[in-house]
Amino acid sequence: MNKNPIIQIKGVKKVYNQGKANEVRAVDDITFDIYEGETFGLVGESGSGKSTTGKLLMKLEEITDGQIIFLGDNIQNKKNRKDLLAFRKNIQMIFQDPYASLNPRLTVKEIISGPLEVHQLVKNKKERDDRVYELLDLVGLNRSFANRYPREFSGGQCQRIGIARAIALEPKCIIADEAISALDVSIQA
Ligand SMILES: Nc1ncnc2c1ncn2[C@@H]1O[C@H](COP(=O)(O)OP(=O)(O)O)[C@@H](O)[C@H]1O
Ligand SMILES: [Mg+2]
Repeated sequence: MNKNPIIQIKGVKKVYNQGKANEVRAVDDITFDIYEGETFGLVGESGSGKSTTGKLLMKLEEITDGQIIFLGDNIQNKKNRKDLLAFRKNIQMIFQDPYASLNPRLTVKEIISGPLEVHQLVKNKKERDDRVYELLDLVGLNRSFANRYPREFSGGQCQRIGIARAIALEPKCIIADEAISALDVSIQA
């Protein structure tokens, strides 16, 4: 295995509502590295801070203390649009609730191609459609689903749509937050 850490988490803390009566130490001093090619599992009881850790890694929440180094750069320094875009291209998340994580007003094609267009990875409609079909094939969904809406699909199918969206940019890192726990046991397999 390649020995470059792609993520280094050093003494990271996240305190919600700091200094108030409802203060929560959601993440309290965690340190670990994740290496290229590695599947890293984070295990803990409900409320132990797993989802918060994912959000901190994605920069959906700001850390209270410590450092997160992604591909050698401190993610706290990524503030302007260009740096944030470059960062987000390389780290994507698959969420726990497949319905809540997909915009109900967008077609499957629009959901999957959104990131491709934001990052200007497709030059025209033909390229966009071809890439969407390729991604649908990859996650085992029928191409005819492209023009339909999330509500027309089962939880398992929606989660595949979320996976297609997450892998569209070929990110260096994918965070799966209990990505299959909301699905039936037969679909989880
Ligand atoms: N936005 C928030 N505001 C206040 N407290 C939060 C927020 N998000 C999570 N928490 C609290 O942080 C702790 C860790 O939650 P979470 O990271 O969701 O745990 P897990 O994913 O391991 O179940 C919990 O006590 C939770 O209630
Ligand atoms: Mg969670």
